Amino acid sequence: MRWPLLFAVMATTACTKADFVGQPEPIAAPLGLPAMPPGAPAAAVALGKKLFFSPVLSVDRSVSCASCHQPGYGFSDPRAASPGVNGARGKRNAPSVWNAAYWSTQFWDGRATTLEEQAGGPMMNPVEMGHSSRGVVASVEADPELRRLMAAAYGDETVTLERITRAIAAYERTLVRGNSPFDRFFFGGDKSALSEEAQRGLALFRGKANCSLCHTIADDHALFTDQKFHNLGVGMDPAGNLIDQGRYEVTKKDEDRGAFRTPSLRNIAETAPYMHDGSLKTLKEVVDFYVGGGNANPQLDPLVQPLTSFTREERAALVAFLESLTGEAR
Ligand code: HEC
Ligand code: HEC
Repeated sequence: MRWPLLFAVMATTACTKADFVGQPEPIAAPLGLPAMPPGAPAAAVALGKKLFFSPVLSVDRSVSCASCHQPGYGFSDPRAASPGVNGARGKRNAPSVWNAAYWSTQFWDGRATTLEEQAGGPMMNPVEMGHSSRGVVASVEADPELRRLMAAAYGDETVTLERITRAIAAYERTLVRGNSPFDRFFFGGDKSALSEEAQRGLALFRGKANCSLCHTIADDHALFTDQKFHNLGVGMDPAGNLIDQGRYEVTKKDEDRGAFRTPSLRNIAETAPYMHDGSLKTLKEVVDFYVGGGNANPQLDPLVQPLTSFTREERAALVAFLESLTGEAR
């Protein structure tokens, strides 16, 4: 009689394990992006996708992940600061989720390392989805379709926060997007893929404008980010003080004041407005900002310098190049 009891106990523990059932699906990296490790089984990705688009994750069912990471805007938000539940607003612009699987840290200040860790944040953030962990679990449990997808992904219907965040992360890892005109030109050898103006922009980007010092291009792929934190002086109050301390809030080191993670520039034409506070509306405004050398402040990164004698044509060429980074939608 003791063995069956033991098995019953083991079966209950196994129930709440967050291991996917089924075979991992390979994730094919498109031209211009590094190889990805195998992803999750298809059923886990399907669950994660449903959760990503489901308002059930927010306390009043008004907001989903996709409210602020909108597929039509490169999985980012056209509003400078996204309204969350009850119209509350955070202070930062929602970054794109495309290619987020490649970032070594998540968020503008890098406070999360994995997509799993990141995904728990917004559900419990009072200005985003405003839920409690128990509330999220209860709302998912109350949804018959999510329960069915949960069982397909994990082998049983048990809902846990860990299962929710793992499935969302599994879906996000499939959101890889490359094969832009730039990739076809630079890595694919198709010399007709980029206009002459965009080619001049590429040369400026890697040359006299110094952009690739931070928005890096490697020999066989380009993430357009060094994954490091820099201060450009974005977001000052009228007295000239930084409004958002950025990376400093994580490290408490003075040199990190006002520093933010270098964002990738892939699909940048789709993700206006720009910068951590969404303060620049167009790519032209961004280029003008760099030509001016950023905003002076004690922590301004020495790599940001005014670009002297930068002509109107050169500015336009840089914008044309940035517009060539829009990847093939898959
Ligand atoms: C109310 C708007 C809002 C909602 C809802 C929201 N996000 Fe975000 N998301 C943001 C903002 C703003 C940031 C940047 C915050 C920061 O850096 O401090 C962000 C950052 C991220 C990042 C980091 C990307 C990067 O490049 O660092 C990922 C990934 C992400 N969100 C996924 C999700 C997922 C998954 C959900 C649903 C569980 C979600 N978001 C819900 C607004 C939102
Ligand atoms: C010192 C490193 C550095 C250099 C050099 C640099 N950038 Fe950036 N770039 C960043 C960082 C960091 C941010 C985010 C800053 C913020 O929001 O506070 C950024 C933001 C951007 C954005 C907005 C991205 C978004 O998603 O909002 C664009 C576009 C951009 N840079 C293009 C360029 C171009 C073009 C050049 C060259 C003229 C350049 N960068 C040079 C580090 C750099």
